[in-house]
Amino acid sequence: MKEIWQSRTSFVLASIGSAIGLGNIWRFPYVCYECGGGAFLIPFLVALLTAGIPLMVLEYSVGHKFSKPAPLALGNLKKGFEILGWFALLVGFGIATYYAVIMGWAFNYLGYSLNMAWGDNTQGFFFNQFLKISESPMQLGSVQWMIALGLILTWIAIVASIWKGAKTVGKVVYFTVIIPWIILLVFVARGLTLPGALEGLKYYLTPNFSALLNYRVWLHAYSQVFFSLTIGFGVQMTYASFLPRDSDVVNNAFLVSLADAATAFVGGFAVFSTLGYYANQTGLPVSEVVQSGPQLAFVTYPTIIRLLPFGSVIFGVLFFLMLLTLGIDSAFSLVEAGAASLIEKFNFKRVHVNIGFAIVAGLIGLIYTTRSGLYWLDIVDYFMNNFGLLVVGILMCIAVGWFYKHEEIREYANGKSDFTIGRWWDFSVKYLTPIVVGALFITNVVDRVKAAYGGYSRIAEFLGGWLVIIVFVVVAVILFKKKGRS
Ligand code: PHE
Repeated sequence: MKEIWQSRTSFVLASIGSAIGLGNIWRFPYVCYECGGGAFLIPFLVALLTAGIPLMVLEYSVGHKFSKPAPLALGNLKKGFEILGWFALLVGFGIATYYAVIMGWAFNYLGYSLNMAWGDNTQGFFFNQFLKISESPMQLGSVQWMIALGLILTWIAIVASIWKGAKTVGKVVYFTVIIPWIILLVFVARGLTLPGALEGLKYYLTPNFSALLNYRVWLHAYSQVFFSLTIGFGVQMTYASFLPRDSDVVNNAFLVSLADAATAFVGGFAVFSTLGYYANQTGLPVSEVVQSGPQLAFVTYPTIIRLLPFGSVIFGVLFFLMLLTLGIDSAFSLVEAGAASLIEKFNFKRVHVNIGFAIVAGLIGLIYTTRSGLYWLDIVDYFMNNFGLLVVGILMCIAVGWFYKHEEIREYANGKSDFTIGRWWDFSVKYLTPIVVGALFITNVVDRVKAAYGGYSRIAEFLGGWLVIIVFVVVAVILFKKKGRS
């Protein structure tokens, strides 16, 4: 039976839920700070308007027009493009394998926050006691069972959220979008009323316009927009395929993209005001306490929570609850897009696909629960986002801009929407986005030829990076070749 959203709100929330994730809280504020502070908002908005929204329109229109999940919708543009769709979903699958592990950490920390088990030395606690991190990627060590347990809980939550596809997702997202928003606002209010908050915000927002002369800053803006909107994974395309025939396309694309960007911007207030407080309490300059990624959430934040004048336990619980609810709808969007595609093409039973997915992804995820897990997570994360995702983004634009009647897609979108897009959309899809993202891709290739990623050994880089990409290409081709139900 074809999947369908019960209401427009369900679709919009699911799409927003997929977009808003850890990237808004621990990636955006940091990238912003690194790339010229307040001045970064300029390239960010430019990237949002010239690539983010156009690609969102593209994904929605193609998904909606052909009313099929990503690989099959792309296959309708031209047969071979189906491979691109499977590859995109596999990249998403790769991300889901470690995203779920990070959520597994958050489950553990939710428990720890009840008695602030991390103590004074949050850094030592996270790396040595919790992760028991080894010296290098090749020293795997044993699986850390508490993390594996968190991983299992996460997969149970993911499978439960997509149990009956769009029907279940459409209900779950009311909670997983609204709860983290409310908690985020609590953290903004709490952050802004702490001593030192303004000092932190100054770091976040003081514009350094000379950064705009650096081309890498612009490239960062584009990659942040892609990652943050969950574009280039086939997720938004698949979600749009579940829309009823007469739904709007363009308004929804603007709505979701702007909601995501606004959340990232507001997230920065929560993060930087709190970092200002941290600096204030420890006497360190703000520049030394700024962190991103796991370090921010699992080392810096636990310390700050301890330092709070009152309600540490409550804020600790809220913080990890926010991470979990923020992450879960991004994670399950990847799984749902993959599941819907497999079901549509091969007519598999949904229960089998759901459970099969969780088992395969969970078993692969065990690698990240070993003592060298953080290293592998880092390598795979880098490759998925910088090679997998960018390649899909470029090829999707080329597929529509060069191998299909792009005017037709634009007219289709406009025909469905009261708010219409002009020829600038064609320009963006045909030239601008492929060129900018292509430049980004080439810069990455050059960087990787010069040195292995992150100072790891070449062999670790190969196993966690290139090999994964190669395997995904092969699997994508196999899925394409395999006969479907029709
Ligand atoms: N958009 C999500 C975020 O901002 C990240 C994400 C990307 C999640 C791709 C899943 C897949 O955190």
